[in-house]
Amino acid sequence: MRTVAVIGRKGGSGKTTIAAHLAMGFVLRGRRTILADADPQRSAIEVFKGRGEPGPELIATSGSKLFALKTAAMNAAADVLVIDTPAVLEDETAKAVVLSDLSLLVVRPTFLDLSAAVRTSSIIRQLRRPGLVILNQAPASREGVEPPIVKRAIEALSLLRLPIAPVVVRARAAYQIVLESGRSVEELPAETIAAQEMKDLCAFVDRFVFGAPAKPVAQPKDEGPTAKEA
Ligand SMILES: Nc1ncnc2c1ncn2[C@@H]1O[C@H](COP(=O)(O)OP(=O)(O)OP(=O)(O)O)[C@@H](O)[C@H]1O
Ligand SMILES: [Mg+2]
Repeated sequence: MRTVAVIGRKGGSGKTTIAAHLAMGFVLRGRRTILADADPQRSAIEVFKGRGEPGPELIATSGSKLFALKTAAMNAAADVLVIDTPAVLEDETAKAVVLSDLSLLVVRPTFLDLSAAVRTSSIIRQLRRPGLVILNQAPASREGVEPPIVKRAIEALSLLRLPIAPVVVRARAAYQIVLESGRSVEELPAETIAAQEMKDLCAFVDRFVFGAPAKPVAQPKDEGPTAKEA
């Protein structure tokens, strides 16, 4: 079993959005997935309340219960445990990082997010655990050219000495709308840009943690350059 923590000390950076999408991404790739909500706000659990179809198994937890939860998940033959963490509780973050095969640090391209990321990335490095930065809520690129704010953020993030995910997650209304019904943008028609973006991110993270290619996603074929916004 693999364990993936979604972390970040800055509130509202998109941890729950990314954790929910990754958990669904693993489900869509045929992985038996548990989504552990370690945030007392229980936003991840809230997201899936409206989902009619099978999704990840949901567990409300806290940092001190994570070890027992991980052991139980392994005994239950889960393939992957995704942990959504709270923003400010550093001790909870450290507990999730220590138990995880990969910690995803979710950061917006803003000065305050980037400066908070310095501290969070040092937790990952001090604990000597694998980490990956995901840049989220970035403005869209224009004809392949990144807006200066994104370029500057990528330069600043390179100082954290953690790899940066090759897929930048853009600020898109689709990410907000789908969570109302507990769905992933990957479940939208494949021609939407958000669906393609999240498909690429989930495929990358799945390969990162499992090493082997996952089963193909049950989605219609990508229509390529005719992609439009969701
Ligand atoms: N890529 C995105 N595009 C548009 N909106 C987004 C994106 N990612 C997150 N959001 C929105 O930003 C807000 C905060 O997201 P989310 O709750 O996932 O952050 P969080 O880091 O889990 O917050 P908290 O620190 O409170 O747990 C939500 O309204 C969410 O819909
Ligand atoms: Mg959250």
